[in-house]
Amino acid sequence: MEKLVFATNNPHKLQEVRAMLAGKFEVAGLKDIGCTEDIPETGVTLDENASIKSHYVLHNYQIDCFADDTGLEVDALGGRPGVYSARYAGEGASYEKNVTKLLKELADKTDRTARFRTVISLILNGNEYRFEGTVEGRIIKERRGSSGFGYDPVFIPEGYSQTFAEMDPDLKNRISHRARATQKFVDFLLSKG
Ligand code: IMP
Repeated sequence: MEKLVFATNNPHKLQEVRAMLAGKFEVAGLKDIGCTEDIPETGVTLDENASIKSHYVLHNYQIDCFADDTGLEVDALGGRPGVYSARYAGEGASYEKNVTKLLKELADKTDRTARFRTVISLILNGNEYRFEGTVEGRIIKERRGSSGFGYDPVFIPEGYSQTFAEMDPDLKNRISHRARATQKFVDFLLSKG
């Protein structure tokens, strides 16, 4: 079976992709290949960061691999926090602090539209392929719900009335930005494999 490295240490992401590629591709995480350092995310776009991470693994381990990067793009903030979503309120900021900052910045804004966007960079036999998934929605004024993570309590996807944090996790995982990008990536790989 062909082996691919996913440039992540997030066990949930690994498990999800492993299940989707079961029997066709073997997916290893960074720990599995002995990579313990943090890959620097120095890009200014999601595409750049996904690409930086996949190329880092390629250069250091010479193996087919993929990496993802996700951000929340808020229209009234000119697309911020975007690539800086994880560190919006500062390096190492908690989800709690990031959401508080977002709500504060949007306090007097009537345009609340936003989207989550995920980019996956795949390097296969030396070629790079990119896949993207988005989910449109809006940011509400106060947190609602307790499942999920990150900005989920303040994001309502278009066509729904619940926030991602109120929604059944299975539903979120079917309609999310990450699910859409991952599905495109998996379809591509399965068409090759
Ligand atoms: P990552 O690139 O997957 O690590 O995501 C970067 C940041 O985007 C996370 O730290 C979260 O703040 C936010 N984020 C990513 N995916 C989601 C999601 O599904 N719901 C809410 N926030 C998310």
